[in-house]
Amino acid sequence: MCGIYGYLGHRNGVKIALDGLKRIEYRGYDSAGLAAITEGKLEYFKEVGKLSELERLVGDLSSPTVIAHTRWATHGRVTRENAHPQLDESKNIAVVFNGIIENYQLLKEKLQQEGVTFVSETDTEVLPHLIARIYDGDFLKAVQQALLLLHGSYACAILHRDHPNEMIVAAHSCPLVIGMAAQETFVSSDPNALVHHTREVIYLSDGEVAKITLEGVEIFDATLAQISKETEQILHSVEETTKGNFEHYTLKEIFEQPQTIRNAMLSRFFEEYGTVAIDGLHISASDLLSIKRFLIVSCGTSFHAGLVAGYMLEDLAGVPTQVEISSEFRYKNPIVQEGTFVIAISQSGETADTIAAVREIKAKGAKILAVCNVQGSTLAREADNTLFLRAGPEIGVCSTKAFTSQLAVLSLFALLMARTKHMSKLEGQNFLHSLQKLPEQVQRVLDLAPQIEKIAKKYSRYDHFFFLGRRYMYPTALEAALKLKEIAYVNANGYPAGEMKHGPIALIDEECPTVALCADKVTFDKLLSNLMEVKARHGKVIAIAHEGAKGLENTVDEVIYVPDTTDELAPILSTVAAQLFAYYVAKERGAEIDRPRNLAKSVTVE
Ligand code: G6P
Repeated sequence: MCGIYGYLGHRNGVKIALDGLKRIEYRGYDSAGLAAITEGKLEYFKEVGKLSELERLVGDLSSPTVIAHTRWATHGRVTRENAHPQLDESKNIAVVFNGIIENYQLLKEKLQQEGVTFVSETDTEVLPHLIARIYDGDFLKAVQQALLLLHGSYACAILHRDHPNEMIVAAHSCPLVIGMAAQETFVSSDPNALVHHTREVIYLSDGEVAKITLEGVEIFDATLAQISKETEQILHSVEETTKGNFEHYTLKEIFEQPQTIRNAMLSRFFEEYGTVAIDGLHISASDLLSIKRFLIVSCGTSFHAGLVAGYMLEDLAGVPTQVEISSEFRYKNPIVQEGTFVIAISQSGETADTIAAVREIKAKGAKILAVCNVQGSTLAREADNTLFLRAGPEIGVCSTKAFTSQLAVLSLFALLMARTKHMSKLEGQNFLHSLQKLPEQVQRVLDLAPQIEKIAKKYSRYDHFFFLGRRYMYPTALEAALKLKEIAYVNANGYPAGEMKHGPIALIDEECPTVALCADKVTFDKLLSNLMEVKARHGKVIAIAHEGAKGLENTVDEVIYVPDTTDELAPILSTVAAQLFAYYVAKERGAEIDRPRNLAKSVTVE
């Protein structure tokens, strides 16, 4: 999504802002721009394509007051005019903006009737024009009053030529974080981009506006009443946001998984009682017992984690569970009966569809448990309880380590629920032992990288794949297929294996290989029959199976054996193998792995 970076202080903010944009470029963008105040002049630059283009344009410009932006097109094509900053007609006011102004057409028509000429196709452009028309010398008031006219969600940073040592920033349903240091202030849509400068941050909440000057930061609510907010600490280290010795962030994050899974479980086991004690979860046993139904909302990879959790909560805890894609769910009229407990899963905690779904459900009285990786994110702040993944910053656009951490954390919650209800202590302890083995087992999957790379190279020329699985391996197949789509741009169809015969099998031939996720032991034999059907139609099959699986070698073309575990935890190990497969296919095809085309790490618009 769009990224914002701003600087106000005594140093050259241009270099700092450009460096800041580089740190958020992983979120995806198609154009970039910057505005700065130098010697009473408002200067601005914008360019489509890579950040190096903008850097070239900017040259050796120096300014202590800078706002900058990376754009991911929503309203209007990828052009220089549509890039940010957007300006008013007199070019006194510059706005960088993330989000959507839903009523921009109405506002635009009104402004046009009043004689304003628009130069871009963006919704953002209404904002500098509105501010210019309201402005009477009070910059803060003009911004606040203009923002009141907008419907939608936004985070923005704004400069005015006549206020060279001032920056106004605001947020509503989009992330904006202010980093505080001695006599300088940083602004970003992502705290990861601030950690090099400061760990002291303030997250703006809905409707809040901040005035940043050399004296510091003043925060106001939507009515301009001044409020005081506590600063928070960013906990992760600078190293966690670098690539280390790896060629790509994605590869680094795949290889971090033994440690991230360990972190997800760390000091959360209560071995003596075969259960877990989870920090951040303030729900009593009687509250857990009163849960009649789970409702899980999420998007993308997090949705696949939700599907796995759905199987676990029904199998282990015996509680009916409905798993919904947030963007679909938000337009239903949700039936949230008493006893419904909602789990919202989001790596970033900023996905607009998930947040909207959560708000709709909250308004109906249900309690929300967030499963989230980002401290201070909108979802974490709005939920009643949050289980943090502790996976560290995930920079690669396609989610890898966050997915396996989501599965680890959700399995802890399913265990807690099961133990509170009916699972015996011994069964609970056995489950904990299986969890304990995971980091070392994931390492063993990673050790298979050379074998997986060889297979990936062999199959990298194919443009169409099926990914099949049953039961726990069905969401695993969906996730494995999504990885290949996202980073290798290969058409990969994740499907429940038993459903193939109802249509999709028509597509199988020698040019459409199948990746079979075989590690669900309950359905293994059934899956094997489905694979025979594929083989009978000349389809090639690459199996990812648990050690000890019998009868595969004679059926399939390739087998990758991953360590054996319980069916509930098998998605973690099989997914790591599938991530490596997607990575090496993408690499062989020369695809842009960390920042796949058209994708954004965190989708903060609908
Ligand atoms: C984007 C990302 C996906 C991610 C999805 C949900 O589409 O590209 O990788 O799974 O958003 O993100 P969330 O932060 O809510 O888990």
